[in-house]
Amino acid sequence: MKIGIFDSGFGGLTILKEIKSRMPEYSYIYLGDNARAPYGTRSFDTIYKYTLQAVEKLFSLDCNLVIVACNTASAKALRTIQQNDLPKFGADKRVLGIIRPCTEIAGQLTNTNSLGIFATGGTVSSKSYEIEIKKLFPSVNVFSHACPLWVPLVENGEAQSDGADFFVKQEVDALLRKNSEIDTILLACTHYPLLFEKIRKHTPAHIRIVNQGGIVAESLCNYLQKHPEIEQQCEKNAKIQFFTTENSEHFNAIASLFWGEEIWSETVEI
Ligand code: DGL
Repeated sequence: MKIGIFDSGFGGLTILKEIKSRMPEYSYIYLGDNARAPYGTRSFDTIYKYTLQAVEKLFSLDCNLVIVACNTASAKALRTIQQNDLPKFGADKRVLGIIRPCTEIAGQLTNTNSLGIFATGGTVSSKSYEIEIKKLFPSVNVFSHACPLWVPLVENGEAQSDGADFFVKQEVDALLRKNSEIDTILLACTHYPLLFEKIRKHTPAHIRIVNQGGIVAESLCNYLQKHPEIEQQCEKNAKIQFFTTENSEHFNAIASLFWGEEIWSETVEI
Protein backbone atom coordinates (compact mmCIF):
# COMPACT_ATOMS: atom_id res chain seq x y z
CA MET A 1 0.00 0.00 0.00
CA LYS A 2 0.87 3.64 -0.48
CA ILE A 3 0.15 6.52 1.87
CA GLY A 4 -2.61 8.76 0.50
CA ILE A 5 -2.52 12.52 1.00
CA PHE A 6 -5.70 14.43 0.24
CA ASP A 7 -6.29 18.15 -0.05
CA SER A 8 -8.94 20.33 -1.65
CA GLY A 9 -6.31 21.50 -4.12
CA PHE A 10 -2.68 22.51 -3.93
CA GLY A 11 -2.18 23.31 -0.25
CA GLY A 12 -1.60 19.74 0.93
CA LEU A 13 1.60 19.79 -1.08
CA THR A 14 3.12 21.90 1.73
CA ILE A 15 2.30 19.04 4.10
CA LEU A 16 3.46 16.25 1.75
CA LYS A 17 6.73 18.12 1.17
CA GLU A 18 7.54 17.91 4.89
CA ILE A 19 6.34 14.29 5.11
CA LYS A 20 8.55 13.34 2.17
CA SER A 21 11.53 15.11 3.67
CA ARG A 22 10.98 13.34 7.05
CA MET A 23 10.18 9.90 5.50
CA PRO A 24 11.52 9.79 1.93
CA GLU A 25 11.50 6.00 1.71
CA TYR A 26 7.70 5.55 1.49
CA SER A 27 5.50 5.77 -1.61
CA TYR A 28 2.78 8.40 -1.62
CA ILE A 29 -0.25 9.30 -3.69
CA TYR A 30 -1.38 12.93 -3.63
CA LEU A 31 -4.94 13.80 -4.61
CA GLY A 32 -6.03 17.41 -5.05
CA ASP A 33 -9.72 18.08 -5.66
CA ASN A 34 -8.89 21.19 -7.68
CA ALA A 35 -12.06 20.98 -9.76
CA ARG A 36 -14.13 21.70 -6.64
CA ALA A 37 -11.69 23.85 -4.63
CA PRO A 38 -11.72 26.00 -2.64
CA TYR A 39 -13.45 24.13 0.16
CA GLY A 40 -12.97 27.00 2.64
CA THR A 41 -16.27 28.69 1.83
CA ARG A 42 -18.42 25.56 1.38
CA SER A 43 -21.03 24.07 3.71
CA PHE A 44 -20.52 21.15 6.07
CA ASP A 45 -22.61 18.77 3.90
CA THR A 46 -20.74 19.60 0.72
CA ILE A 47 -17.30 19.29 2.29
CA TYR A 48 -18.26 16.01 3.90
CA LYS A 49 -19.56 14.60 0.58
CA TYR A 50 -16.47 15.72 -1.38
CA THR A 51 -14.01 14.52 1.26
CA LEU A 52 -15.65 11.11 1.51
CA GLN A 53 -15.47 10.71 -2.28
CA ALA A 54 -11.78 11.64 -2.24
CA VAL A 55 -11.01 9.22 0.60
CA GLU A 56 -12.81 6.42 -1.28
CA LYS A 57 -10.80 7.24 -4.38
CA LEU A 58 -7.53 6.97 -2.45
CA PHE A 59 -8.64 3.65 -0.92
CA SER A 60 -9.32 2.38 -4.45
CA LEU A 61 -5.79 3.46 -5.44
CA ASP A 62 -4.33 1.13 -2.81
CA CYS A 63 -3.88 3.69 -0.03
CA ASN A 64 -5.10 2.01 3.14
CA LEU A 65 -3.84 4.97 5.15
CA VAL A 66 -5.15 8.39 4.11
CA ILE A 67 -4.09 11.72 5.58
CA VAL A 68 -6.66 14.47 5.14
CA ALA A 69 -4.05 17.22 4.72
CA CYS A 70 -6.61 20.02 4.53
CA ASN A 71 -7.75 21.89 7.62
CA THR A 72 -11.18 22.67 6.23
CA ALA A 73 -11.86 19.02 5.33
CA SER A 74 -10.36 17.80 8.62
CA ALA A 75 -12.54 20.28 10.51
CA LYS A 76 -15.80 19.54 8.74
CA ALA A 77 -15.65 15.94 7.52
CA LEU A 78 -13.05 13.85 9.33
CA ARG A 79 -14.96 12.92 12.47
CA THR A 80 -18.08 11.84 10.55
CA ILE A 81 -16.00 9.79 8.12
CA GLN A 82 -14.08 8.11 10.96
CA GLN A 83 -17.22 7.33 12.95
CA ASN A 84 -19.86 6.62 10.29
CA ASP A 85 -18.13 5.59 7.09
CA LEU A 86 -14.83 3.96 7.92
CA PRO A 87 -16.31 0.76 9.43
CA LYS A 88 -17.94 0.05 6.02
CA PHE A 89 -14.56 0.05 4.27
CA GLY A 90 -12.96 -2.64 6.43
CA ALA A 91 -10.67 -2.80 9.43
CA ASP A 92 -7.49 -2.22 7.45
CA LYS A 93 -8.48 1.31 6.34
CA ARG A 94 -7.38 4.38 8.31
CA VAL A 95 -8.03 8.09 7.89
CA LEU A 96 -6.12 10.68 9.88
CA GLY A 97 -6.47 14.46 9.96
CA ILE A 98 -4.14 17.32 10.73
CA ILE A 99 -5.96 19.27 13.43
CA ARG A 100 -5.27 16.96 16.37
CA PRO A 101 -1.46 16.75 15.93
CA CYS A 102 -1.24 20.51 15.42
CA THR A 103 -3.24 21.31 18.54
CA GLU A 104 -1.11 18.90 20.58
CA ILE A 105 1.98 20.95 19.71
CA ALA A 106 0.55 24.48 19.45
CA GLY A 107 -1.10 24.23 22.87
CA GLN A 108 2.28 23.50 24.44
CA LEU A 109 4.02 26.43 22.78
CA THR A 110 2.04 29.31 24.25
CA ASN A 111 3.34 30.72 27.53
CA THR A 112 0.59 33.33 27.83
CA ASN A 113 -2.19 30.77 27.20
CA SER A 114 -3.29 32.87 24.21
CA LEU A 115 -3.03 31.06 20.91
CA GLY A 116 -3.81 32.76 17.61
CA ILE A 117 -5.04 30.79 14.58
CA PHE A 118 -5.19 31.90 10.96
CA ALA A 119 -7.45 29.67 8.85
CA THR A 120 -10.18 29.61 6.21
CA GLY A 121 -13.71 30.75 7.06
CA GLY A 122 -14.82 27.10 7.07
CA THR A 123 -12.22 26.05 9.63
CA VAL A 124 -12.88 29.09 11.82
CA SER A 125 -16.67 28.62 11.81
CA SER A 126 -16.30 24.92 12.68
CA LYS A 127 -14.53 25.93 15.94
CA SER A 128 -12.54 22.68 15.62
CA TYR A 129 -9.31 24.19 16.92
CA GLU A 130 -11.08 25.74 19.92
CA ILE A 131 -12.74 22.39 20.73
CA GLU A 132 -9.54 20.32 20.38
CA ILE A 133 -7.43 22.81 22.36
CA LYS A 134 -9.95 22.92 25.22
CA LYS A 135 -9.83 19.11 25.49
CA LEU A 136 -6.05 19.03 25.78
CA PHE A 137 -5.21 22.43 27.31
CA PRO A 138 -8.24 23.78 29.23
CA SER A 139 -6.41 26.96 30.26
CA VAL A 140 -5.46 27.96 26.71
CA ASN A 141 -7.70 30.45 24.89
CA VAL A 142 -7.87 30.31 21.10
CA PHE A 143 -8.36 33.43 18.98
CA SER A 144 -9.19 32.39 15.40
CA HIS A 145 -9.22 34.66 12.43
CA ALA A 146 -10.36 33.89 8.87
CA CYS A 147 -8.26 35.23 5.98
CA PRO A 148 -10.45 34.69 2.90
CA LEU A 149 -8.10 36.49 0.51
CA TRP A 150 -4.93 34.58 1.36
CA VAL A 151 -5.73 31.38 -0.58
CA PRO A 152 -6.49 33.27 -3.84
CA LEU A 153 -3.38 35.42 -3.32
CA VAL A 154 -1.21 32.32 -3.13
CA GLU A 155 -2.92 30.49 -6.00
CA ASN A 156 -2.52 33.51 -8.23
CA GLY A 157 1.22 33.64 -7.63
CA GLU A 158 0.97 36.89 -5.61
CA ALA A 159 2.45 35.59 -2.33
CA GLN A 160 5.69 37.54 -2.80
CA SER A 161 4.14 40.68 -4.29
CA ASP A 162 3.96 44.11 -2.68
CA GLY A 163 0.18 43.87 -2.87
CA ALA A 164 0.25 40.81 -0.60
CA ASP A 165 1.76 42.97 2.18
CA PHE A 166 -1.45 44.96 2.42
CA PHE A 167 -3.69 41.91 2.82
CA VAL A 168 -1.32 40.13 5.19
CA LYS A 169 -0.85 43.13 7.49
CA GLN A 170 -4.61 43.76 7.54
CA GLU A 171 -5.33 40.24 8.88
CA VAL A 172 -2.38 40.14 11.29
CA ASP A 173 -3.53 43.44 12.83
CA ALA A 174 -7.12 42.17 13.02
CA LEU A 175 -6.06 38.99 14.86
CA LEU A 176 -3.84 40.85 17.31
CA ARG A 177 -6.66 43.31 18.07
CA LYS A 178 -8.68 40.32 19.33
CA ASN A 179 -6.15 39.72 22.11
CA SER A 180 -2.92 41.48 22.97
CA GLU A 181 -1.48 38.49 24.87
CA ILE A 182 -1.14 36.21 21.83
CA ASP A 183 2.43 34.85 21.81
CA THR A 184 1.97 31.97 19.31
CA ILE A 185 0.15 31.87 15.97
CA LEU A 186 -0.62 28.62 14.16
CA LEU A 187 -0.98 28.83 10.37
CA ALA A 188 -3.95 26.46 10.16
CA CYS A 189 -4.42 26.50 6.41
CA THR A 190 -2.15 24.57 4.10
CA HIS A 191 -1.66 27.55 1.76
CA TYR A 192 -0.33 29.91 4.39
CA PRO A 193 3.28 28.63 4.57
CA LEU A 194 3.75 30.36 1.21
CA LEU A 195 2.95 33.65 2.96
CA PHE A 196 5.18 32.86 5.93
CA GLU A 197 7.75 35.58 5.21
CA LYS A 198 5.08 38.25 4.80
CA ILE A 199 3.27 37.12 7.96
CA ARG A 200 6.59 37.17 9.84
CA LYS A 201 7.34 40.66 8.54
CA HIS A 202 4.05 42.11 9.83
CA THR A 203 3.94 40.24 13.16
CA PRO A 204 5.81 41.48 16.26
CA ALA A 205 9.07 39.57 16.68
CA HIS A 206 8.18 38.09 20.10
CA ILE A 207 5.25 36.14 18.58
CA ARG A 208 6.08 32.65 17.38
CA ILE A 209 4.59 31.60 14.04
CA VAL A 210 4.05 27.88 13.56
CA ASN A 211 3.73 25.96 10.28
CA GLN A 212 1.87 22.64 10.21
CA GLY A 213 3.96 20.52 7.80
CA GLY A 214 6.74 19.53 10.20
CA ILE A 215 4.25 18.75 12.97
CA VAL A 216 2.12 16.53 10.72
CA ALA A 217 5.23 14.73 9.39
CA GLU A 218 6.48 14.01 12.90
CA SER A 219 3.06 12.83 13.99
CA LEU A 220 2.77 10.46 11.00
CA CYS A 221 6.22 9.09 11.75
CA ASN A 222 5.16 8.39 15.37
CA TYR A 223 1.93 6.82 14.15
CA LEU A 224 3.78 4.40 11.88
CA GLN A 225 6.18 3.49 14.68
CA LYS A 226 3.24 2.73 16.97
CA HIS A 227 1.43 0.71 14.27
CA PRO A 228 3.96 -1.75 12.83
CA GLU A 229 1.10 -3.75 11.27
CA ILE A 230 0.44 -0.73 9.00
CA GLU A 231 4.07 0.31 8.57
CA GLN A 232 4.99 -3.17 7.31
CA GLN A 233 2.39 -2.94 4.55
CA CYS A 234 3.76 0.39 3.26
CA GLU A 235 5.53 0.30 -0.10
CA LYS A 236 9.03 1.73 0.21
CA ASN A 237 9.88 2.73 -3.34
CA ALA A 238 10.19 6.48 -2.66
CA LYS A 239 7.63 7.11 -5.41
CA ILE A 240 5.10 9.93 -5.47
CA GLN A 241 2.13 10.05 -7.84
CA PHE A 242 0.08 13.21 -8.15
CA PHE A 243 -3.59 13.20 -9.11
CA THR A 244 -5.92 16.14 -9.61
CA THR A 245 -9.61 16.35 -10.45
CA GLU A 246 -8.88 19.35 -12.73
CA ASN A 247 -6.77 19.79 -15.82
CA SER A 248 -3.34 18.29 -15.12
CA GLU A 249 -1.37 20.94 -17.01
CA HIS A 250 -2.94 23.66 -14.90
CA PHE A 251 -2.17 21.63 -11.77
CA ASN A 252 1.46 21.14 -12.81
CA ALA A 253 1.96 24.86 -13.40
CA ILE A 254 0.59 26.06 -10.04
CA ALA A 255 1.76 23.06 -8.00
CA SER A 256 5.40 23.91 -8.62
CA LEU A 257 4.87 27.09 -6.52
CA PHE A 258 4.05 24.84 -3.56
CA TRP A 259 6.42 21.98 -4.29
CA GLY A 260 9.47 23.98 -5.34
CA GLU A 261 10.12 21.83 -8.40
CA GLU A 262 8.20 20.56 -11.41
CA ILE A 263 5.36 18.11 -10.88
CA TRP A 264 3.68 15.79 -13.40
CA SER A 265 0.12 14.91 -12.49
CA GLU A 266 -2.74 12.90 -13.94
CA THR A 267 -6.40 13.86 -14.01
CA VAL A 268 -8.83 11.54 -12.19
CA GLU A 269 -12.57 11.53 -11.65
CA ILE A 270 -13.82 10.98 -8.15
N1 DGL B 1 -6.47 23.43 2.02
C1 DGL B 1 -7.40 24.29 2.67
C2 DGL B 1 -7.13 24.31 4.19
O1 DGL B 1 -6.09 23.87 4.69
C3 DGL B 1 -7.43 25.67 2.11
C4 DGL B 1 -7.91 25.80 0.68
C5 DGL B 1 -9.41 25.70 0.47
O2 DGL B 1 -10.17 26.57 0.94
O3 DGL B 1 -9.81 24.76 -0.21
O4 DGL B 1 -7.98 24.74 4.93
